[in-house]
Amino acid sequence: MTSPHEDPDVLAHSQRLQALIRDEIRAAGGAIPFSRFMELALYAPGLGYYSAGAAKFGRDGDFVTAPEIGALFAECVAEAVAPVLRGIGEEAWFVELGGGSGRFAEYAIKRLMAVDAMPARYAILEPSADLRERQRAHLRQRLTPPVFDRVEWLDGPVQARWRGVLFANEVIDALPTPRFALREGEVFEEHVALDAQGAFVCVDRPADALLAAAVRHVERQLDAPFADGYRSELLPQLPYWVQAVIGGLQAGALLFVDYGHPRREYYLPQRAGGTLRAFRRHQLREDVLAHAGLQDLTASVDFTALAEAGTGAGFDFAGYCNQASFLIGNGLAQRLAEHEARAPDEAARYALRQQVKTLTHPDAMGERFQAMGFARGAEFGHAFLAGDLSYRL
Ligand SMILES: C[S@@+](CC[C@H](N)C(=O)[O-])C[C@H]1O[C@@H](n2cnc3c(N)ncnc32)[C@H](O)[C@@H]1O
Repeated sequence: MTSPHEDPDVLAHSQRLQALIRDEIRAAGGAIPFSRFMELALYAPGLGYYSAGAAKFGRDGDFVTAPEIGALFAECVAEAVAPVLRGIGEEAWFVELGGGSGRFAEYAIKRLMAVDAMPARYAILEPSADLRERQRAHLRQRLTPPVFDRVEWLDGPVQARWRGVLFANEVIDALPTPRFALREGEVFEEHVALDAQGAFVCVDRPADALLAAAVRHVERQLDAPFADGYRSELLPQLPYWVQAVIGGLQAGALLFVDYGHPRREYYLPQRAGGTLRAFRRHQLREDVLAHAGLQDLTASVDFTALAEAGTGAGFDFAGYCNQASFLIGNGLAQRLAEHEARAPDEAARYALRQQVKTLTHPDAMGERFQAMGFARGAEFGHAFLAGDLSYRL
């Protein structure tokens, strides 16, 4: 339920978005696919969660991402991709998808400068105009003018030929996802409709050919049909999305970090309700259709599907491991030691150790989050040597 103490402006904002979604449902003849609902709830221009300034990163917000809790995550990512960028040399670009608050870019750029691997351009592809402004303001304050001048914001993927690194943390989990359900052996797609009072409700409609084929592909791979009533998420468009965001990348690397599972673990019988969830003020919310525009919606990543999409786009699979292994394998201990040596007091050293714990502990982000890399005409070096999980894909 919405809190009675909710700010009236915030409520009015959500109501405007709900009205827009209702109009679209009526115009569509009574129901829209859940993925379209999620797209509007998160990205409707000027109103969606990410487009309108509702998205709150960090301790006072709705969720905390790894780059938000300190510099260590971004610094280790910088260490991992530095050999690729140095190998490419002067013309290298680093393209970050979904830049959040801009903290990742700040920490990564500073580390890339320190290890002599700063690319010619650091480009951020951020669909949300509001987040772009936040990122720009953050980086203008934190970087020197000549370094800030090397940062740019893209309106879409780089279509011209380019070489470098494409990176995304927690972006695939924010892609609007279709939800499927099995009923008497047939594949249905979850839609959102209106009840007599105009509230959002879920209804199932027969799935289109693309979604039905994708569900059957998963069943064949798992060698078992889904049980009747099984409901989950699946991104049939992931291969097209990966191809699109790569754009004209000729040589270099792709690196994705997100929460998720290999396919076999994603579609376990006990996960019969799927992985979709809503977050508001650090709380998991049951009702994904409530508070449109005020809560984050997210689904876990099928890393087997990501491996298929990356290799399908013409890249070599470079590695897959959990976040703890990835960070440890890319200099976490050294980064911690350096920060500790510069820390002004014990409280600062304690905060650094807490940061490491959050990033690596199995009960925090260490195992739930995983990293997957791809390369073409470039080498990651030792980035994926620790904790290989590719046998689980
Ligand atoms: C959960 S936030 C993660 C932000 C940041 N990477 C971090 O780790 O703090 C998801 C981000 O992905 C962005 N995003 C969503 N769809 C995208 C797309 N198709 N391409 C690039 N970014 C996208 C959102 O606007 C948002 O900035």
